[in-house]
Amino acid sequence: MTSPHMSRSDFVKLATTFIASIMSAVIGFPAVGYLLSPAMHKFEKSEWIPLGKLENYPLGIPTRFNFTRTTINGWEKTVNSYGVFVLRQTDQQVRVFSNICTHLGCRVSWQSDLQHYVSPCHNGHFDIVGNVVSGPPPRPLDEFEIKVENGNLHLRYPPFRRG
Ligand code: FES
Repeated sequence: MTSPHMSRSDFVKLATTFIASIMSAVIGFPAVGYLLSPAMHKFEKSEWIPLGKLENYPLGIPTRFNFTRTTINGWEKTVNSYGVFVLRQTDQQVRVFSNICTHLGCRVSWQSDLQHYVSPCHNGHFDIVGNVVSGPPPRPLDEFEIKVENGNLHLRYPPFRRG
């Protein structure tokens, strides 16, 4: 017949297993959450970014505008900076392009003498409305949805893919 009382060594084993289980849960659940969170947040949050008065952008000249976005993920705060080119084609027609090259993500700049956006990394060229002219980029520059309210231009982040 077995004793109804637990031996000292059985108690130590049980207590050690219990404490180890609690510690695994405390450490493991946040770690699993951290690893899975990128998959859970597949889509970036959409938001409207103000770019100021539309009339301040010259006609026919791609004009650089920079903005930052701050994202807070738990204890982590991240500030990212973005650059776009605003192309005001007529008084009311405007398009806004990302400055990120669609090849490997280098930042393009507007070269007015060539009338091209040029990527410095592998000499990718895009025309004034972001279409590929030459080089390795596989598709046009990404573009932003825009709206004009009371004369103020806004873009919707993130940009959409073309081509
Ligand atoms: S990153 Fe722009 S051409 Fe390669």
